[in-house]
Amino acid sequence: MGMNGTVIEVSEVSRHFRIAGHELTALFGLSFAVRRGEFVSIIGPSGCGKTTLLRMLAGLIEPHGGQIRVGGRPVRGPGRDRAVVFQDFALLPWETVLGNVAFPLEIQGLPRGEREERARRAIALVGLAGFEASYPYQLSGGMQQRVGLARALVVDPETLLMDEPFGALDAQTRHLLQDEVLALWQAHPKTVVMVTHDMEEAVYLSDRVLILTARPGRLAREVAVPLPRPRDESVRRSAAFAEAVEDVWSSLRTLVAA
Ligand SMILES: Nc1ncnc2c1ncn2[C@@H]1O[C@H](COP(=O)(O)OP(=O)(O)O)[C@@H](O)[C@H]1O
Ligand SMILES: [Mg+2]
Repeated sequence: MGMNGTVIEVSEVSRHFRIAGHELTALFGLSFAVRRGEFVSIIGPSGCGKTTLLRMLAGLIEPHGGQIRVGGRPVRGPGRDRAVVFQDFALLPWETVLGNVAFPLEIQGLPRGEREERARRAIALVGLAGFEASYPYQLSGGMQQRVGLARALVVDPETLLMDEPFGALDAQTRHLLQDEVLALWQAHPKTVVMVTHDMEEAVYLSDRVLILTARPGRLAREVAVPLPRPRDESVRRSAAFAEAVEDVWSSLRTLVAA
């Protein structure tokens, strides 16, 4: 596998759930690949299995058919090479910012001194220096998601998995955090798979947008985003940006069941 080789391979993946005696197929025959260092967004109708896919990439649940390989190895569970940012932040309410961000390192069994040093660095990276001793309830939604981001970055994962990371935030905060994630990603290259329902967000951040069909989700189409990097507000206002969003929308429009 070369520097720009495939790092994530999803091959013919299926997953179902059993609800009240009924079998519900969330994903069926889903295949795609992600190259090292690529920023890829997954978009698709509500309930098409986006979160399910992300949880399988994270190793939190298993596929029922097909295979997911990350770094050439089948995913058998969570790993240090992957970290997740959740839509609802999923912070520990009884822990401080420092405690939350250091938590994954505690699980790894690192000594306290090293844990705290690395956690402080991750906290500074997301712009929260000075808030180490604060508790989640004392922070705005945007700040809480910065904590969620720091907790993912603290383990220095090769792959960052994000499930609608800005979905719970107001529009201004969302734009601000999108720009900060882009800046972080430019400075510390990682493979990113981000689930979103926001077409503009998908286009603004990504190299490629994968569009899934309605349930059961499989790949409907992929759109390569032809926008230059680094991207900033001027890119958001460009004609090329509007065209790319329209391109994604023209596909999604036919997939979102009325
Ligand atoms: N743990 C679960 N138990 C039962 N059904 C589930 C579970 N997780 C997801 N589903 C179902 O699978 C489908 C896909 O869910 P999900 O992956 O959350 O979709 P999305 O994130 O695209 O909105 C939905 O119909 C959902 O109700
Ligand atoms: Mg979801």
